[in-house]
Amino acid sequence: MLSPVRTLLLILCVTSVVALAACAPASTPASTAASTASAAPPGLGQEVRNNPAQPVFLAWPEVQDAPELGEAIHRDLKAREAAFLADYAPSDEAPPELHATWSTVVDAPGAVLGIRSEVYEFAGASGATSSEALYVDRAAGSLWRGSDLVAPAERVAFVDAVVQALEHNGRVVDDVVSGATGAAIEPEAVAARLLDDLTFTAAGDLVVRVGDGVLLPFSEGTVEALVPAMLAEPLLTEAGRRVRAGFAGAPAPAAAPTPGTATAGSAASRTVDCAREACVALTFDDGPGRDTGRLLDELADLGAPATFFLLGQNAARQPAVVARMAAEGHEIGNHTWDHKQLTKLGRDAQLREIERAAAAIEAAGAKATLFRPPYGSRTAAIDAAAGLPVVLWDVDTLDWKTRDTEATVAAALTGAKRGSIVLLHDIHAPTVAAVPRIVAGLRERGFTLVTVSELLGEPRAGEVYSRRS
Ligand code: NI
Repeated sequence: MLSPVRTLLLILCVTSVVALAACAPASTPASTAASTASAAPPGLGQEVRNNPAQPVFLAWPEVQDAPELGEAIHRDLKAREAAFLADYAPSDEAPPELHATWSTVVDAPGAVLGIRSEVYEFAGASGATSSEALYVDRAAGSLWRGSDLVAPAERVAFVDAVVQALEHNGRVVDDVVSGATGAAIEPEAVAARLLDDLTFTAAGDLVVRVGDGVLLPFSEGTVEALVPAMLAEPLLTEAGRRVRAGFAGAPAPAAAPTPGTATAGSAASRTVDCAREACVALTFDDGPGRDTGRLLDELADLGAPATFFLLGQNAARQPAVVARMAAEGHEIGNHTWDHKQLTKLGRDAQLREIERAAAAIEAAGAKATLFRPPYGSRTAAIDAAAGLPVVLWDVDTLDWKTRDTEATVAAALTGAKRGSIVLLHDIHAPTVAAVPRIVAGLRERGFTLVTVSELLGEPRAGEVYSRRS
């Protein structure tokens, strides 16, 4: 099928010198997407279902001056989660997994903010990634999805422009067919799949993220098609033009976070011998989150050390909180970059997850001295790759499940024995509220609170610990 519009585009691209220049960058790998960080980055919304047989990790932004954006993404994710939990039963052998992260694609102060929400769903045998870019215009208070950016009457022309861009880059598109089945499909149906993730370059070119199996065979993966500004212009709605203007006026991507000013913490000045004293270590996973600063205030008031197993992507977004942890004598552990179940990844991807988190923690001015795999899912090869002591737990408070202060206090206090490592999550407000009572209750029972390394003595890299034996 070669529609009149597509024919026109073809002619434009091969006959006009101006158009040739504009047509040149036809498509780019998905990883080169433009990304800018705002001066005041969106806050962190995060939920984890900590079941290794059916792991779920959801993250979304919380934007102070545009709350509807994060709320819309959160609603979408909760709907995906409900469908995922209904469709895929827990499995120890081949755990299904739902994993969602986000990134800022544009942040023009006072104008357009764009967030890309990326979802990975593993169905027990194979996984697929999908993404959606959502925008909010702070001036108008409007929330836009990709379908709001392209005029309904221009949908066929839009598909043609994307096909053109892909072919210009040497990709073989069998007219408009489904890469999954090879069957001819309606341009309107293709357009619906192509509208999910639209961004722009600063020069106004439209970047269309073409998902797995759309227009191209699955083996091609996700690619980006670049529709030159001149060809994109007539396809856009007024909302599309406002979003494009946001990309044109957005500041350059922010530099990497400046190193913190961590100094020797109080751990150095503490002397505790857990061979003689009844020690317990409180551990907090998945942060730093929105309540972590408050937790650090509480721990400082109580004079209680803790161990934080950080996600690299959260450390990168809140480097000052990480620097403060280190400065105040808490121990820091690596909990991977973004909480994927490592046992499903290849060796290179496993290493990237660990190394990227280590780098983010270091960039914040701290150092990870321990490793804890997400969901506690590990193999001997992962233990070795981490190059750090591998720390699990013997007291699981299930705080992620109960989200209840009373239940979390009770679980910690009834579970803790001499030498225990207690699992908590500082991303949940009810957990943070439970900490003063947990600390007081443990001390009443005669326990000394310590970091994990203090508890274990001299933990060795590659060894797995779940308590002091
Ligand atoms: Ni975790």
